[in-house]
Amino acid sequence: MTQEPSEQPTDQPSEQPVDLGLLPLTSSVAADGRLSVGGVDLVDLAEEYGTPLFVYDEEHLRARCREALSSWGDGVAYATKAFLCKAMARLAHEEGMSLDVSTGGELHVALEAGVPAEKLVFHGNNKSPAELRSALSVGVGRVVVDSFDEIDRIETLLRGGTSSGHRLPVPTVLVRVTPGVEAHTHEFVRTGQEDSKFGFGLASGAAALAVERLRSSGLVNLAGIHAHIGSQVFRVESFAEEVEVLAGFFVPLGLDEMVIGGGLGVAYVAGEAAPTISQWAATVHDAARRSGIPSSVRITAEPGRSIVAGAGLTLYRVGTIKDLPGIRTYVAVDGGMSDNPRPVLYSSGYEAFLPRAVSASRPRAARVVGKHCESGDVLVADARVPRDLAVGDILATPVTGAYGYSMASNYNRVPRPAVVFVADGDARTVVRRESSADLVRLDV
Ligand code: LLP
Repeated sequence: MTQEPSEQPTDQPSEQPVDLGLLPLTSSVAADGRLSVGGVDLVDLAEEYGTPLFVYDEEHLRARCREALSSWGDGVAYATKAFLCKAMARLAHEEGMSLDVSTGGELHVALEAGVPAEKLVFHGNNKSPAELRSALSVGVGRVVVDSFDEIDRIETLLRGGTSSGHRLPVPTVLVRVTPGVEAHTHEFVRTGQEDSKFGFGLASGAAALAVERLRSSGLVNLAGIHAHIGSQVFRVESFAEEVEVLAGFFVPLGLDEMVIGGGLGVAYVAGEAAPTISQWAATVHDAARRSGIPSSVRITAEPGRSIVAGAGLTLYRVGTIKDLPGIRTYVAVDGGMSDNPRPVLYSSGYEAFLPRAVSASRPRAARVVGKHCESGDVLVADARVPRDLAVGDILATPVTGAYGYSMASNYNRVPRPAVVFVADGDARTVVRRESSADLVRLDV
C-alpha cells in the first residue's frame, strides 16, 4: 500500500526547492517544472535507461577540466579515483589534463582509453613490483615515490631491465612528502598529517633522506616533490599553509616541480559554498610567491572531486514509502550504499529532489534509504521532499559525480548502475548496467 510521507513542522528555509546551484551546469527547468540536463529530460532518461542511473553533464565535466588547465597550467592532473571509465579518461585527456592513477587498475583503464603514458602520474603507497614494472615499461610521465621500499623496488627494476633484456626508460619521479598540515576535513580523507601511511615525513627527516637517495642513485630523474593534505577541503588557506611549509624544504633543493595534490571541497547541500578551482590556484600561487618559490617552478595540482562531483547526479525510482507515525518517514529507492557508500562511510549529507517537479517546495521530512539488508543503508538521512512524492517517482540526488560510481560495490549482489553522459540533447551510455550474468562472471 502506498503511504504518503507525514508532514512534520520544519524551518521555512528547508522547505525551499532544491538549490539550482547544486545541479549540473546545463540544467534547465521547463515550464512544467521538469528538469533537463544536457538538453535531455531526466524522467524520460530514467524511463529509457532504467534506474539507478548515474547521469553526467558532459559540458560541466569539460568546463571544469578547462578551468583546471587554465588555472594551473600544463601538468595539472585529473585524479581518476574520483570517477574513472574509459570515456572519462578520454574526456580529461581531450581537454588537455594529465591523469593521476593510483593503482595498476587505474593505470590499465587510462591506457585502454588511449591516454598516452606520458600524460599519467602514477601514485600509490604500496605499489607492487608488477604495478611498478607496468608503469615503468610503458613510460608513465611521473612516478610519485612514496616509501623507501618503493625506492628499492624501482632501483631493482631499473638495474634488472625488462624480461626481454631491454633497459627500462629512466623514470621522472616526484617525492611524496607529508607536510604535517592538518586539513579541516573528515579524518578518513585527511592525509597531510605526520601520522600517515602516505609519503615521507618532513619533520622526521625521511623526506630529505628520500631526496638524497634518489639523487645519488643516478637511476631516476628527480623532478620535484608532491604532497596532498586531504580531501573535501573548503578552506583554501589550508593549501597556502601547505605551500609555506613545503617551501622551506623545497626551495633549497633547487628542483623544478611541486604538486600540491587534490582536495578542493565541493558544495553537497544548500548553504555550503566552496571556492572555485581558479580561486584555489590563485591562493596557492600567491603563497608560492610569498614563500620564495622561484617563478620558474611548475606548481600544479590533481583535482578529482572538484572536476566531477557537481557534474553528476543519480536517478533512483521510489519503491516503498513507510510512514512511522511520530518517528519518521522512510522513502526507499532501488539503489543505496552499493552506488553511494559516502553517507555510510563519512556521514556525508546529500539533497533529494524530484526531476518532475524541480521547483516544488519540499515541506516533508523523510529519510531516503536504499534496498540493502542493513539499517545503515542510508542515502539522505534528513531529506526534504515535495508533498506529493509517491511510489514510482523518479528521485534524484545531486552532486554524486565523485566517489559514487568509483566506490560502488555489488553488495547484496545488486548490479552496479549504468553511467550515461548527456550533451546537446543526446545521451550515450559510457558504462553499461551490470546484468545478472555479470554477477556470476567471476564464479568458477
Ligand atoms: N591526489 C591524491 C594523492 C589523493 O590521494 C587524492 C584523493 C586526490 C589527489 C584527489 O582528491 P580530491 O580532489 O578528489 O579531493 N573517498 C573519499 C575521498 C578520498 C580521497 C582520496 N584521495 C570521499 O568520498 O570523500
